[in-house]
Amino acid sequence: AVDVRRLRAESGYICFDQGYGNTGSCESQITYIDGDAGILRHRGYPIEQLAEQSEFVETAYLVIYGELPNAAQRRAFGDLLRTHAEVEEPLQRIFEGFPRTAPPMTILASVVAALAAHHPELAANNFEKDLAVFDTAAAMAISKTRTLGAMIYRHRKGLPFVPSKDTTFCENFLHMMFSQKEPGGPDYLAEPEVVKALNLLLLLHADHEQNCSTAAVRMVGSSSANLFASLSAGVSALSGPLHGGANTAVMEMLQQIHDAGDDGSRFIEQAKSGSKSTRLMGFGHAVYRNFDPRAKIIGAACEKVLAKLGINDPLLDIARHLEQAALRDDYFLSRKLYPNVDFYSGIIMRALGIPVSLFTVIFAMGRTTGWIANWYEVASQPKGRIYRPRQVYTGPVKRDYVPMAARP
Ligand code: ACO
Repeated sequence: AVDVRRLRAESGYICFDQGYGNTGSCESQITYIDGDAGILRHRGYPIEQLAEQSEFVETAYLVIYGELPNAAQRRAFGDLLRTHAEVEEPLQRIFEGFPRTAPPMTILASVVAALAAHHPELAANNFEKDLAVFDTAAAMAISKTRTLGAMIYRHRKGLPFVPSKDTTFCENFLHMMFSQKEPGGPDYLAEPEVVKALNLLLLLHADHEQNCSTAAVRMVGSSSANLFASLSAGVSALSGPLHGGANTAVMEMLQQIHDAGDDGSRFIEQAKSGSKSTRLMGFGHAVYRNFDPRAKIIGAACEKVLAKLGINDPLLDIARHLEQAALRDDYFLSRKLYPNVDFYSGIIMRALGIPVSLFTVIFAMGRTTGWIANWYEVASQPKGRIYRPRQVYTGPVKRDYVPMAARP
């Protein structure tokens, strides 16, 4: 391999790659993507097999620890997640400082960072010390991010928080979201289809190699910053509409098409104009030049979940029509624009009763897994170096300081 450090030292050579589109910034053993073939594998296991046979917590273990757990490991991991489900009272009080209308991802980024303040024993900003307590910190991050998702929902609704329940990961989330909608009200009992669909959603978002938020986590972690500080950076990166916010944009687009009385045919024509403001949201991907394999899985699941729950969502009909029209259209085919994971995920979330404002938080709940695995990879590298890209400077060459009185 080329020794880039030596090359730079000897020649002053800097490789300019705007936005790192073609730069391998690290070696990783977590996730493999072949964008041309539409392949996604975690630790070598195809996403299709994991979606069919695994569930979120098991896949989280696989992504983080590199192997599928045996029965004892799976039990122990589940127990650890249960132990750390509750967000402690002092951290709950942070919510009082947030307006009800505060953006959910802003709240999530703040409280995830605050976990480091509340658990200094897990956040030493020292790789050796932080790796020694990694299992606890990782379980805490996964479990509490899930609980925070439910708390954010309730905060926005002005409802009191619901304590965690001794049940499965996804059931507990739905319980903390939807139980006791009024004081003393009944607990929410999730239908098996709802739990299964949530499991699938989280699993499909578990990791996706060096996307913007994961790269941010690695970047921050490379300075020896603790896990929670690094995860908070991931949440902030994911909050952007070009990354985690696309599922929200898809739902807004589908709703607009519906409200305009269009079946999608008129919109498809506008989407071909080349304008960014009329793009077919949920189509195209920076890496996949083929079907996003997660979109195939989620598209099929969408039909099943809605049918099982007896929901007839006109937005699903519009989405299907848009997909069929685009897959027949030379504009989309010649540019290799296919549905991505966001195209159908919003419709499923809507069917589960999750409001659009919380969609990106659900994405973060799943992706916390991949962020943790990537942070671990950075922290555990014996010879890792701090991430420090260079730039091509295009500002003024040299200027002499001008005193205030002499400035125009
Ligand atoms: N609808 C219509 N035209 C599109 C779309 C789209 N969704 N996406 C790309 N194009 C067109 C562009 O206008 C461009 O056309 P041109 O060659 O005539 O100029 C061509 O396809 C290539 O577009 P790029 O922007 O270069 O594609 P890139 O790979 O950089 O962008 C991106 C990928 C940002 C995902 C883009 O396809 C897009 O904006 N899609 C819609 C938003 C979306 O769904 N984002 C979610 C991504 S998945 C995720 O984050 C989990």
